Amino acid sequence: MVRFSGVGLRYPEGEGAAALSGIDFALAPGSFTWLLGPSGAGKSSLLRLMSLSLRATEGEVEVLDTRISRLKRRAFPALRRRIGVVFQDYRLLPHLSVYENAALPLRIQGLTEGRLAADVREILRWVGLLDRADSPPAALSGGEQQRLALARAVVARPALLVADEPTGNLDSLQARRVIALLREMHRMGTTVIVATHSEALPAEYPAPSLRLAAGRLVSHG
Ligand SMILES: Nc1ncnc2c1ncn2[C@@H]1O[C@H](COP(=O)(O)OP(=O)(O)OP(=O)(O)O)[C@@H](O)[C@H]1O
Ligand SMILES: [Mg+2]
Repeated sequence: MVRFSGVGLRYPEGEGAAALSGIDFALAPGSFTWLLGPSGAGKSSLLRLMSLSLRATEGEVEVLDTRISRLKRRAFPALRRRIGVVFQDYRLLPHLSVYENAALPLRIQGLTEGRLAADVREILRWVGLLDRADSPPAALSGGEQQRLALARAVVARPALLVADEPTGNLDSLQARRVIALLREMHRMGTTVIVATHSEALPAEYPAPSLRLAAGRLVSHG
């Protein structure tokens, strides 16, 4: 599903230091994985490579059985559409309603209202926000905004779901609710990876983990 082989990353503005180096691991289809490590360890960088928002400067990244180094620029959008991404800071569009935020990936695919409405309503019901469909995102609590961001990430039924600190801004009750939804995606067959610097969440929800320290993978278990 995902394979990193000897992957390194240097940011152009990174003054010579590698953000990631010598990264080797694979994620099996349908797996759930925690990505752990302290601030600055490289978690977001690794997830940016996996969600195709950055390209590795060394080694090979394979996502959804595709070698990224060989991929033509024009093939990126289609592959990206099969990857759902959730960020710590939600990244919702403030001028669109809850409904339109959740519908966005389907609109981008060119689906008409008639073809997307049932899926959008179903996903909003799943995250508990159907009754807020007409609200602007600013009217939602942090936990609700993060659940909306999750709805948007999964409405197009991605094969791979990447979440970067999705609970970083939430209290523990809201965090558990988001993790429960991520685990439900996993139970339904989606491959899920979740970055967190929390040690409490992986302890509460045991699953295989990758641990980074200073840009290197220090454990894989
Ligand atoms: N856009 C960038 N340009 C230059 N260097 C960057 C950039 N983004 C991250 N870095 C550097 O790459 C390293 C890894 O950062 P990254 O954001 O991946 O860590 P992280 O584990 O996600 O940290 P946190 O837990 O704080 O989110 C750090 O040294 C950071 O300064
Ligand atoms: Mg980060």
